[in-house]
Amino acid sequence: MSASLLAIRNLRASYGKIEALKGVDLEIKSGEIVALIGANGAGKSTLMMSIFGRPRASSGHIVYDGHDITQVPTHQIARLKIAQSPEGRRIFPRMSVAENLQMGADAGDTTEAERAGTLERVFALFPRLKERIDQRGGTLSGGEQQMLAIGRALMSRPRLLLLDEPSLGLAPLIARQIFDAIRTLNRQDGLTVLIVEQNANHALKLAHRGYVLVNGLVTLSGTGAELLQRPEIRAAYLEGGRH
Ligand SMILES: Nc1ncnc2c1ncn2[C@@H]1O[C@H](COP(=O)(O)OP(=O)(O)OP(=O)(O)O)[C@@H](O)[C@H]1O
Ligand SMILES: [Mg+2]
Repeated sequence: MSASLLAIRNLRASYGKIEALKGVDLEIKSGEIVALIGANGAGKSTLMMSIFGRPRASSGHIVYDGHDITQVPTHQIARLKIAQSPEGRRIFPRMSVAENLQMGADAGDTTEAERAGTLERVFALFPRLKERIDQRGGTLSGGEQQMLAIGRALMSRPRLLLLDEPSLGLAPLIARQIFDAIRTLNRQDGLTVLIVEQNANHALKLAHRGYVLVNGLVTLSGTGAELLQRPEIRAAYLEGGRH
């Protein structure tokens, strides 16, 4: 079995008086796709952001590749080869596609040769970005912006990619393209992925394992296939739920 790439242990994090994470345990092994599902406000984005130190953990530990990174400054996280595509994409609207991608490469401290190779890979995954290389980010469609957000994260050449709701607001066909690209990156490039999704059905089919977050605590975990079969998951997140 592969080694743990990321281990979150008894993590607590707060915004002022509101405790959003109340002792979360989660593990991602090298080469895995792990899905994090849960209702609005459960703390999914907070968990992802806390890996980057925003918010900073009030207690507990985040261990990456054997190193405790709980207190590592946010700006140094990308150099550890962790990248994220945050909720709402947050691309730079006035910059071109090419400039947005360059920003991702800068964050990861990559060489010129690495940058060129990764750019080819991003364009192979998302040919639309190549067609729109000079277009401003803000004028891309929602699906194209999501491709750009993922592409930008990939430009830092991460070992661990964190994706927050990559299919949000996308038509089913485009959402499928995004999920297919994630699967390809995992299978062909060996990329390890943590994906937060409101689309529990797609996310659990894609993921090797999943965690369910309820009110700042993990209530269930298992393989994607196991979780898809659980009646409580079906009731809350699949049938008659959000999807
Ligand atoms: N910047 C903030 N300041 C104060 N409270 C916040 C902040 N961000 C999130 N929260 C609160 O923390 C809790 C968890 O929010 P979070 O965004 O992590 O949920 P989520 O599971 O990602 O939800 P969604 O599915 O709606 O994106 C919520 O109660 C939310 O109101
Ligand atoms: Mg969220």
